[in-house]
Amino acid sequence: MPTETLKTQTGRQIAYRAESSRSRQLYDRACRVMPGGNSRHSIALSPYPPYVVSGHGCYVRDVEGEERIDFVNNYTSLIHGHANPAVTAAVIDRVSKGTAFNQPSEHDVELAELLVERVPYIDQIRFCNSGSEAVLLAIKAARAFTGRAKLAKFEGAYHGIYDYVQVSERSTADNWGDPEAPASVNEASSTPSVADDVVVLPWNNIEACRKRIAAHRDDLAAVIVDVMPAGLGMIAPAPGFLECLREETARIGALLISDEVMTFRVGYHGALHETGIAPDLVSLGKIIGGGFPVGAVAGSKNVMSVFDHTGDWRMHHGGTFNANPVTMVAGLETMKQMTPAAYTCLNHLGDYLRGGLARMLHDRGTPAQVFGRGSLFTAHLTAEPVVDFRSLVGFSRTNPVYGNLCHELLSRGIVVSSRGIFGCLSTPMAEAECDAFVEAVDRSLTALQS
Ligand SMILES: Cc1ncc(COP(=O)(O)O)c(C=O)c1O
Repeated sequence: MPTETLKTQTGRQIAYRAESSRSRQLYDRACRVMPGGNSRHSIALSPYPPYVVSGHGCYVRDVEGEERIDFVNNYTSLIHGHANPAVTAAVIDRVSKGTAFNQPSEHDVELAELLVERVPYIDQIRFCNSGSEAVLLAIKAARAFTGRAKLAKFEGAYHGIYDYVQVSERSTADNWGDPEAPASVNEASSTPSVADDVVVLPWNNIEACRKRIAAHRDDLAAVIVDVMPAGLGMIAPAPGFLECLREETARIGALLISDEVMTFRVGYHGALHETGIAPDLVSLGKIIGGGFPVGAVAGSKNVMSVFDHTGDWRMHHGGTFNANPVTMVAGLETMKQMTPAAYTCLNHLGDYLRGGLARMLHDRGTPAQVFGRGSLFTAHLTAEPVVDFRSLVGFSRTNPVYGNLCHELLSRGIVVSSRGIFGCLSTPMAEAECDAFVEAVDRSLTALQS
């Protein structure tokens, strides 16, 4: 299937750029009723994006009728691409029998069992409706469990839209302060006290982290870490770095929260399994909902007991659509198909894409660094070493070159993030799609140079 569709993609796919395109018209209408024309900043693309009408496997079709290979997969949440037959059948069956109830269903028990069986460092789990909510719940659970107020997070790391994790997510040279002890920079939407309760840590700086965590031995509830933080350009943890976080949090009685909302797609047993490190709490989302809104907080039985109304109940957890049957069956069908063999295959394809991308960039003499693991990838077009958030700022995310590159890639049948060469693979993909991606990046960079 992919090869056939690939063959048809010879022409330029730029109908959406025409002044009279349907995408343009939809965007104009959207701007009248939604600030910036959308409901999430991550999909913004200047001057406007192509509007989508359908998706099938690894392809998406825009309202102009042009098809592209999707390397974003709704920001990494679709591990089987679009309209996976088994997921679709399960959802249709479920929808026809009712979508939301105020009694639990078998589906959430089954999905919970599947996840708990697979991930050695979780005993129990509770569902919610987004990754942001999962992170919020993990942090609140850590506070309830420890009786402490403060959270430590990494400068530049993105964990969703809860006030406390938004601290120093977008700090700049004007306000970020000491590199060893970064300032806590609030979003304008947060109260000043939020910043007081967040300790900002520098990525991969073991000594500085040890000192910062020890200095807050009496008031730190948790450290939250994403092992491949997208906000930090997927810079891998340095050897010993995660071990240091585990040791220091354990030493002071704080919890370690592993935010695997995005990275859970890298391995059957969870993103931290290979390290042998067991976090106290984990936030999940994206792929476990099979394309529907989802989040989950999971962890050791001891810590998760804060949610247990039959025991030592320390925090209230509600949510009208938590564990709704539609999301649960979609998640279950999705995860069942993610066998160990499916992970191995997808992750090899990730190596293939990263290798091809790095070779192509090297051969054309474009300074670049290619990062990622499993089915996630990113490339930074710079010769300067990218080692932490501060070394990333200035050429990534905000750099307009990536918006232009995104349009060039769209015109060559490829969907990537508007924020850079950042994306992921899905199981319907094969080497042909990865080759098409690498070739399109090559041609797009040449087009931009001229
Ligand atoms: C690491 C991480 N945490 C949390 C979130 C927030 O998830 P959601 O967008 O489902 O609220 C994201 C979203 O991209 C993420 O990548």
